Amino acid sequence: MTTETIIQTENLNLWYGESHALQTVSMGIPKNRVTALIGPSGCGKSTLLRCFNRLNDLIDHVKITGTILLDNEDIQCSATDVVMLRKKVGMVFQKPNPFPKSIYENIAYGPRVHGVKEKSELDAIVERSLRRAALWDEVKDRLHDSALGLSGGQQQRLCIARTLAVEPEVILMDEPCSALDPIATAKIENLIDMLKQQYTVIIVTHNMQQAARVSDFTGFMYLGKLIECGKTVQIFEHPKEELTENYITGRFG
Ligand SMILES: Nc1ncnc2c1ncn2[C@@H]1O[C@H](COP(=O)(O)OP(=O)(O)OP(=O)(O)O)[C@@H](O)[C@H]1O
Ligand SMILES: [Mg+2]
Repeated sequence: MTTETIIQTENLNLWYGESHALQTVSMGIPKNRVTALIGPSGCGKSTLLRCFNRLNDLIDHVKITGTILLDNEDIQCSATDVVMLRKKVGMVFQKPNPFPKSIYENIAYGPRVHGVKEKSELDAIVERSLRRAALWDEVKDRLHDSALGLSGGQQQRLCIARTLAVEPEVILMDEPCSALDPIATAKIENLIDMLKQQYTVIIVTHNMQQAARVSDFTGFMYLGKLIECGKTVQIFEHPKEELTENYITGRFG
């Protein structure tokens, strides 16, 4: 079975001022699969992830060359509607960052910005998003309580629900479990597995076991370069590059 590619980078380079943080990265992200990005601290994982919804635009002195195609369209060109791009490509951060508002308002905010006004429609979106994020049963009786009263793991699932509320195609997750305990982490991992039926997930993780458990494809980065990418089983069991093998066997990083 061939897998469709949803994002493709070609010779992607990124500089922060003089520092060459991404070096000729050419990588395909398969649709409706989970792709993990691994590699030692500072190798460019978060930088690459941020390229996929142009979050690096918000950082001064960034220069990017090469192409990034999403659904075969170049997202780097000036005609790209960045608000629509970020609707299509959502992001979940390392530390849960709910708005200091109610659970309901956290989810309803994005759809409202995108023009949904009817309360009944917003109610339906809130319920559907919370169900998809496996949080509904825990919060359905307290939707109007502050989101800040949720546990860390619940807050992270709320942030995932908030991303799902605007119907993205791709969900970027930058170390989404690193602030969570093992039980909350297991819930997020199960959720990621369910999400790939409808969405494409790209996850940065420092945890090799997590990458092996949740992902179908893995890319290994080192010093700004994509050293190797392929099916997760192949990368973990038969890496082609010695650097990859040294990293996944814990010899450095
Ligand atoms: N806003 C920035 N301005 C300047 N340099 C930056 C900026 N963000 C990242 N860098 C540099 O770019 C390189 C890649 O950083 P990046 O955050 O992408 O690494 P990472 O692989 O996500 O690391 P970690 O695993 O520690 O999160 C690093 O050398 C980092 O110092
Ligand atoms: Mg990072």
